Amino acid sequence: MTHGLGFRSPDGCSRLAVTDLDGLLSAVRFALIRIQCRPELVDGCLGRGLLDHQPALIPNPDNSHFPGKRKELQRCDAAHVASRERRERCLGGMTDTKQSAVLITGANKGLGHEAARRLGKLGWKVFLGSRDEDRGREAAEKLAADGIDVVLVPLDVTSEESVAAAEELVRTHTDRLDVLINNAGAPGHAIHPAQATVAEVHAVYDTNVYGPIRVTHAFLPLLQAADHPRVVMVSSAGGAFSVVTDPEQPVSKMHELAYSSSKAALNMLTIRYAQAFPGIKFNAATPGEVANHTFAATDMNNNMGRLTVTEGTDSIVRLALLDPDGPSGTFTDRLGPIPW
Ligand SMILES: NC(=O)c1ccc[n+]([C@@H]2O[C@H](COP(=O)([O-])OP(=O)(O)OC[C@H]3O[C@@H](n4cnc5c(N)ncnc54)[C@H](OP(=O)(O)O)[C@@H]3O)[C@@H](O)[C@H]2O)c1
Repeated sequence: MTHGLGFRSPDGCSRLAVTDLDGLLSAVRFALIRIQCRPELVDGCLGRGLLDHQPALIPNPDNSHFPGKRKELQRCDAAHVASRERRERCLGGMTDTKQSAVLITGANKGLGHEAARRLGKLGWKVFLGSRDEDRGREAAEKLAADGIDVVLVPLDVTSEESVAAAEELVRTHTDRLDVLINNAGAPGHAIHPAQATVAEVHAVYDTNVYGPIRVTHAFLPLLQAADHPRVVMVSSAGGAFSVVTDPEQPVSKMHELAYSSSKAALNMLTIRYAQAFPGIKFNAATPGEVANHTFAATDMNNNMGRLTVTEGTDSIVRLALLDPDGPSGTFTDRLGPIPW
C-alpha cells in the first residue's frame, strides 16, 4: 500500500511518497528536518517555538521546553497515517494546508510587531492590529516585504466600535482564529500614588484591562471555531505580587499605581478566562526575565531594557505555539513559569 504525504505549507515543504508504515514514519521525521523547509519552518516543525537564535532557550536538545511535542509527533505519526489531512492538522498547522491565523493587538511596533514577524515567518497569517492606520500600514508593508502573509486591522482596543469593525474585517479573511495576542498596552505615568487620580488610572485600565476584555469577547466565536485556540495576555512582572513585594526587585521601590495594578487585574482575568473556557488556552506572559531583573527595550520604556524585542517575545511566541496538551492559566517569562 502506498502512503502519500503532502507538506504543502506556504513555504513550500516537499511532497513525499512511501510504501510501508516504517517508511512512512521515517519519511515524516525526515520531512520535518528537510532543507526544503525554510529554517524557521524547520524550527517550527520540530520545536514549535524555539525560533531564531536564542541561546538562552536553545540548550534544549531533548525539547524539554516542549515536553509534549515529541509525544504529539509520535501520536500524530501513529494515529493518523491513513488520513493526510487529519495528520497534518494533528501536527499543529506547520505542515497544514490550512494556515494558522493570529491577531495581535498593538502590532505596529515593539513586541507586538516582533511577535507578528516571528509567527509570520512560520507561515502564519498575521492580522496586524494597529490603532493608527498609517502606522499600521507602514508596519504591515514591512512584514509583507519580508514575505509575510499580513492583513492590517485598524484596531483601537479602547473603542467598542473599532473592536467590532476589526472582528468584521478579520471574519472576511478567515472563519477561525487560532491565536489572539492581547498585546496593546499603555504605561500610564510613573507618578506617586498621592498624585494618581481615577481619570489617570481609568485611562490605563481602559487599554490594559478593558481592552483585552473587549477584544477577547468580540473574537470568542472565531477562537471557538479553531481546533486548538490560544489567547496570550501580554502582562508584566510589575503586575505580579511575587515581584512587587520582593525588596530585591527594582520595581518594589518604584512608586506607581495604574500600570502595575492594571497588569495584576489582567493576570486575574487570564485565570478566570482559563477556568471558564477549558477549550481555549489562556496564558499570561511577561516579556522579561524576572530572575535577572530584565525587560525588553521598546518605546514604552524609552528603550532602556537590556533584552532585544526578539528575546522579549520569547515568552509570547512560546505561548502562541503551545501544543494541544499544553497548559492554561499560567504566567510565564522568558525563562519559564513565574509566581503570580
Ligand atoms: N517592553 C517590555 O519589556 C515590557 C515589559 C512588561 C510588559 N510589557 C507589555 O508588552 C506590551 C507591548 O509593549 P511594548 O514594550 O512593545 O511597547 P510599545 O513599543 O510602546 O508598544 C505598545 C503598543 O501598544 C499599542 N497601543 C497602545 N494603546 C493602544 C490602544 N488603545 N489600542 C491599540 N493599540 C494600542 C501602541 O500603539 P501606538 O504606536 O499607536 O501607540 C503600540 O503598538 C504591553 O502590553 C506592555 O505593557 C512590555
